[in-house]
Parts: sequence; structure tokens; C-alpha cells
Amino acid sequence: MRDGPTALRPWRESDVPALVAACQDPEIVRWTRVPPSYAAADARAYQLTRVAGVRAGTIAPYAIVDGDDDRRLLGSISLMRFSWRHARGEVGYWLTPQGRGAGHATRAVRLICAWGFAALELERIDLRAAVDNPASQAVAERAGFRREAVLRSFSMTGFGRDDVVAFGLLPGELRG
Ligand SMILES: CC(C)(COP(=O)(O)OP(=O)(O)OC[C@H]1O[C@@H](n2cnc3c(N)ncnc32)[C@H](O)[C@@H]1OP(=O)(O)O)[C@@H](O)C(=O)NCCC(=O)NCCS
Repeated sequence: MRDGPTALRPWRESDVPALVAACQDPEIVRWTRVPPSYAAADARAYQLTRVAGVRAGTIAPYAIVDGDDDRRLLGSISLMRFSWRHARGEVGYWLTPQGRGAGHATRAVRLICAWGFAALELERIDLRAAVDNPASQAVAERAGFRREAVLRSFSMTGFGRDDVVAFGLLPGELRG
């Protein structure tokens, strides 16, 4: 999937060094489930569980890469936490520090959501961003998600519990 300078492709074993380098970023550790002190073994284990997750229909994980050079890793994006019975899934993402500030996350969210509606026949996509993570909320809003609620004390990280904003996107609501 490609939108100008931003492309999504399946993960490759050759992404491991760039994945490990990216996951040293404190912002990624703060706002995602990536554990601290992320090492090559974590990256390889994660890639294996992702393969199993694709087979089981529990996650659709993609690397966000440069549209002109698909070896250049810019980030990670997945559709996950599917409820097939309710035709629903959730999107989650991060960008490398070098990949930020250029719209890659917004384009990646639009690409994977358009694909989720068309190919997976989803009828709702959730996105949850911490109240204290305005950069992620801005991605959601630029892509067309609607802010629906604040879920108090919803998630727990190594930094404590976070209130999160619940966003939702229905078919036809993607922006841009
Ligand atoms: C959340 C995160 C992905 C947002 O990254 P981002 O670079 O701000 O988001 P985008 O890639 O959509 O880029 C938007 C920025 O590029 C600018 N931009 C430039 N061209 C653009 C374009 N064509 N389209 C959209 N934005 C564009 C925007 O103005 C914005 O800059 P600003 O923040 O100075 O206003 C990033 O901060 C991150 O990885 N954080 C750590 C992990 C995380 O929080 N993940 C989400 C958990 S819910």
C-alpha cells in the first residue's frame, strides 16, 4: 500500500536492526506496549508472534517505510484486537523519531483503515490515544476519526495508569 512518500509493507527479518534502534526511543516506550531496553531478541520474538497472529486472524501488522526506498523503516502500524463478529478492529502505530513531522503516521492510518474497510470488511475501527499524548490524537483527527469519549484509568504502563481518548471511524469517514 502506498500514498506518495509513505508505504506499508509486511515486516522482514532484515528490519530487526532498525526495529531495535527505533524502540530505544523513550516516546515509543512511554506510549505503546514496547518494553524498555528493547533488544534484538525482543524484535525476533515479536516478529514470530506477529506471523502467528496473522495466521490466527488476530493482527494485521505492517512496517511503515519510505515510499521510494522500502528498506528505510519509518514506523509500525497494525490493525488488531479484532472482533470479527462485530466487524470491528483497532489501529495502533508508532514512528521512528526521524520519521516524525512529515505526515507519515496520518497517511499510514488512512492507508490501513481504507484497506481494513475494503479488504477485511470492517464496519468500525477504534483508536485509543492517551489524554497526555496530543501528537497521537492529532493523527486520529487528521485521518477523520471522531473523538467519542474519555476512558478514565484505562491503560497501565511502567509509568502508571493513563486516561485515554476513545476515537472511532466508520466507513465513509476517512479524511484526505
Ligand atoms: C504519535 C506519532 C506517530 C505522531 O507522529 P507525527 O509525526 O506527529 O504524526 P504525522 O506523521 O501524522 O505528522 C504530523 C506532523 O507532520 C506535519 N505534516 C507535514 N506534512 C503533512 C502532511 N502531508 N499530512 C499531515 N501532516 C503533515 C504536521 O503538521 C504535523 O506536524 P506538527 O506536529 O508540527 O503539527 C509519534 O509522535 C510517535 O510515534 N509517538 C510515540 C508512539 C505513540 O505515541 N504512538 C501512538 C500511541 S496511541
